[in-house]
Amino acid sequence: MNELICYFNGKLLPLSEAAVSADDGGLLYGDGIFETMRIYKTRPFQQEAHLKRLQEGAVYLDLPFPGINDLQTAIGDVIRANAVEEGSLRLSLTGGKCRRFLWPRPQQQEPTVLITVRDGIPYPEHLYKQGCNAVTVSFPRNEASPLVRIKSLNYMENMLGKREALQQDCSEGIFLNTKGEITEGTISNLILFNGKTLLTPAASCGLLPGITRSTVLSMTRESLGIPAEERVLYQKDLMQAEEAFLTASIMEIMPLVKVDGQKIGTGKPGVVFKKLQKEYRRLTFLNYG
Ligand SMILES: Cc1ncc(COP(=O)(O)O)c(C=O)c1O
Repeated sequence: MNELICYFNGKLLPLSEAAVSADDGGLLYGDGIFETMRIYKTRPFQQEAHLKRLQEGAVYLDLPFPGINDLQTAIGDVIRANAVEEGSLRLSLTGGKCRRFLWPRPQQQEPTVLITVRDGIPYPEHLYKQGCNAVTVSFPRNEASPLVRIKSLNYMENMLGKREALQQDCSEGIFLNTKGEITEGTISNLILFNGKTLLTPAASCGLLPGITRSTVLSMTRESLGIPAEERVLYQKDLMQAEEAFLTASIMEIMPLVKVDGQKIGTGKPGVVFKKLQKEYRRLTFLNYG
């Protein structure tokens, strides 16, 4: 197999030749942000929205930002260099070499930019047919932390939550916040259907407002005629839901059929999931088909 080609600080390189400096703030402090996108038919889905969120994260953390056009070109170059038809992409951006306490940032700060791709459909079709299981994570999400709202490189809480899920033979962990409200999964957002309305935790509960979450909410209202709302939700809302789903760019919409060992609805992917999946896939096809 040929070695993957990545984009690293302005150049296309074999992945093994991309070396981050030992004083990069991303390595030392998690001083950076990232985006993951799904590639359909050689093109990244919702690229504009992902780059906008990246830019907003960069502004918040005061990171040097290379510019949307340059990033779009770099993304296209990496996809072509690896001849990816269907796959996924990750763009990481750090503040580059840093001072001892990061601040104040030097005037002419050079960011570190790394773009990598993976070839192949990320989640096999049978998972969408059987649905996935989740557990409630044992520690709370801090809804007051500014980091929960941006896709920062500080991902250890998410990875620890994911580890708890895997240790219990589940694929996802669901975070509650310090008030006991549901927030999101460790790598996904959570949406449920209560028989009438599609519901998802409000951003103020402490979560990354996902691009797939917002695509699903608007698509539901516009094309499926089902009302969709963001609000405060509790575990009992999830346990009493007719259906539940996880959403993320790479995962798309995944039925969530069991939480903490208890079935959600019938314990099988439901009718609303099937409608959502069909419509979401139609959108990905419309954009790039
Ligand atoms: C913590 C978290 N929440 C939500 C999401 C979903 O975001 P998006 O739909 O923008 O991919 C992700 C995706 O990686 C995530 O890591």
